[in-house]
Amino acid sequence: MEDSVYYKEEGLFFRILLNRGEVLNALNYDLLKSILEALNKAESSACRFVVIESLESKAFIAGADIRYFAGLEENALFQYISFGKKVFDKIESLSKLVFSVVDGYCLGGGFELALSADFILATQKSKFGFPEVSLGLVPGFSGFIRIIEKCGLSTAKKLILSGRILDFEEAKTLRLFDYEIESSDFEHFSKFIISQFGTASPYAIKQSKRIFSQVFIEKHLINNLETETFIKCFYSQEGEEGVKAFLEKRKSSFNVQK
Ligand code: COA
Repeated sequence: MEDSVYYKEEGLFFRILLNRGEVLNALNYDLLKSILEALNKAESSACRFVVIESLESKAFIAGADIRYFAGLEENALFQYISFGKKVFDKIESLSKLVFSVVDGYCLGGGFELALSADFILATQKSKFGFPEVSLGLVPGFSGFIRIIEKCGLSTAKKLILSGRILDFEEAKTLRLFDYEIESSDFEHFSKFIISQFGTASPYAIKQSKRIFSQVFIEKHLINNLETETFIKCFYSQEGEEGVKAFLEKRKSSFNVQK
C-alpha cells in the first residue's frame, strides 16, 4: 500500500505531501497520524519553512473522512476528534513558519487544517467552505475558533451556517486565504515564500509565534464545546440522515417545515 503522506527536505523547506487522492485526502485516523509524524520530523529538522501540499490535483483536503467516522462508536469518535485537534494544534504551535498550499477543494476538516498553518497560499482553482451543516453536523477540528480568529465572527457565521462552497473570487473577497499564487508548483511558491519571509530570523519567528498563540486564551472552552456539539449532532436524527445521504450519494433531506 502507498504511504498516505510523504515528506522531504528541500533546501530551506520541509515539504509534507498528502497522498490519499482516491478520497480527495479525506482525513481518517491513519492520515492524521502520518501528518503528525511528519510534523515531528519537521520540528526537529534544520529547515526554516514547512509547507503542506497535496499530490491530488483536484483537492487540498475534502474534509474529515465521512465514511471512516460514520462507523465509529461514541468513544472512538471522541478520540478521533480529539486527535485531529491535537494534530492541528501541533501545526499551529510549530516553531517554524507553516504554509498550506491550496489548489482545489479545501473543505471542512481540510479548511480547519489549512487554517492551523500560519498562512494559506491559494491558486485560482481553490474552493473553500465548511459543508458540515449540509450533513447535519458542525465543524469539529477547532474550526470555529480558527475561522473566527482569521476572518471575524460575521464571515465565520456566513460560512458555517450556510455550508456553502465558495469559489476563489468569493473566498478572496472574504479574505479566507492570505496569498494568491499562480501555481502550486514548488518552484513557484517556494520563491514567493522566500521573497516574503526570507530575511526573517528563525529565533524571532519562534518567539513571535509564542506571543500570537496567546491571543485567544480561552479557546479551549470553545474547542471543548465544539467537540461535545459535534458528537451531539452526529447522533441526532439530522446528523444520521446527512451522513447517510453522503454515503448514498444523494442530497440530504432535513424535513424542513414549510
Ligand atoms: N469523506 C470521505 N470520502 C470523501 C470525502 C470525505 N470528506 N470527500 C470526497 N470523498 C470521496 C468520495 O466519496 C469519492 O469516493 P468514491 O469514488 O469511492 O465514491 C471520492 O472521494 C471522489 O469524490 P467525488 O465526490 O466523487 O468528487 P466530486 O468532484 O464529485 O465532488 C466534493 C467533490 C469535494 C464536492 C465532494 O466529494 C464532497 O462534497 N465531499 C464531501 C465534503 C464534505 O462534506 N466535507 C466535510 C466533511 S465533515
